[in-house]
Amino acid sequence: MLDQIKQLIAEISDFSAATPEEVEQFRIKHLGKKGTIAALFDAFKSVPVEQKKEFGKALNELKTAALDKVNEMKAALADADTGKSGADLTLPGDPLRFGARHPLSVVKNEILAIFSRLGFTISEGPEIEDDWHVFSALNFPEEHPARDMQDTFFIERHPDILLRTHTSSVQVRDMETHPLPIRLVTPGRVFRNEAISARAHCMFHQIEGLYIDENVSFADLKQTLTYFAKELFGADTQIRLRPSYFPFTEPSAEMDVSCTLCHGEGCNVCKGTGWLEILGCGMVDPNVLELNGIDSNKYTGFALGMGIERIAMLKYGIKDLRLFFENDIRFLEQFTTAF
Ligand code: DAH
Repeated sequence: MLDQIKQLIAEISDFSAATPEEVEQFRIKHLGKKGTIAALFDAFKSVPVEQKKEFGKALNELKTAALDKVNEMKAALADADTGKSGADLTLPGDPLRFGARHPLSVVKNEILAIFSRLGFTISEGPEIEDDWHVFSALNFPEEHPARDMQDTFFIERHPDILLRTHTSSVQVRDMETHPLPIRLVTPGRVFRNEAISARAHCMFHQIEGLYIDENVSFADLKQTLTYFAKELFGADTQIRLRPSYFPFTEPSAEMDVSCTLCHGEGCNVCKGTGWLEILGCGMVDPNVLELNGIDSNKYTGFALGMGIERIAMLKYGIKDLRLFFENDIRFLEQFTTAF
C-alpha cells in the first residue's frame, strides 16, 4: 500500500491540465468521494495499529499533494486567461487619439496643390522684415498714403524693422534671388495692428502668387484665376474681376467668385450680391520690376494675394475668425481630409 501511495504522489506531481475540464476530472479521480484517495482512506481502517502512523503520514501527504495540485492548476489556467499582470486582456483597448490637420493647413495645402499643378513651386520668406521688402521695393513711396492701407507693427527701436503686413514682401526676395522666369507661390503669416474680432485678427495667413516671364499677359492671369477658382470651389464657379488699386500692380483687380452658398442667387453670406471677394491681383508694376533689377521692357508678370482664413471661412461656413487660434480640439477635429 505504501508503494501505491508513493506511485500516486509521483503521478499527481507529473500531471498537467490544459483546460478547466481536465482539472475537474483530475479532482474527481483523486479527491472525489469514490476517488483513489478515499479508497486508500477506506483501506487505512484495516491497516495494523503499529503501521498506522507511517501510513497515516503518507496518506496525508498524498491528499495535500492532490489538493495543492488542483489549486495550482486552477491558478495557472486563470493566469493564462488574464495575463500575468492580472489585467483583463479581454477588455477592449483604449483607442489612440489621432491629431487632425488644422483647417488653415488643410486649405493652404489645397491651394498650393492647385498652383503646383500649374507649375508653381513654393517659396517662403521671413516674418520680421524691413521697410524695403514690405513697402519701398513694392512701389510704396515714403509718406505715401497707400502705406496706411495696412496698419503696421513697427519695432520701436528700429523704425526700419517691422512685422510683414503681407506676403508680397517675399515677391521682392524672390526677384532678388530667383533666376527668371519666376513662378512661385508663397504661404505665410502676416501681422497687422488691428483689434481682434470675429472678422479681424492681428495675425493671419496669406498666400502670394508671382509669375514673371517674357510675354506674361493679363489673359494668363485671368485664366490662372479661373482654373484656381474652379478647382478650389467647384467646376460651376464663376469669377469676376473688379478694377482696384495696389501700388505694386498696374492694372490691379480684385477677384470675386460666385457665392459658394447660393451660387449667385443672393444670400446673407454674399450680402445679397451673389459674389464673394477672394483675392487681390494684377500685372506687376514695371516700377517694381525695375526696382528689383528686372528689365521691364523684356519681362512682364502677374501677382496675386489672398487670405487663407477668409477662404477657409467660406469653404467651411466658419463664422468667427478667432476659432482658428483658440486651439479648441472640438473645432480642430472637424476638418481632416486628404490634405
Ligand atoms: N498684398 C495685398 C494685401 O495684403 C494682397 C495682394 C493684392 C497681393 C494684389 C498681390 C496683388 O500680389 O497683386 O492686401
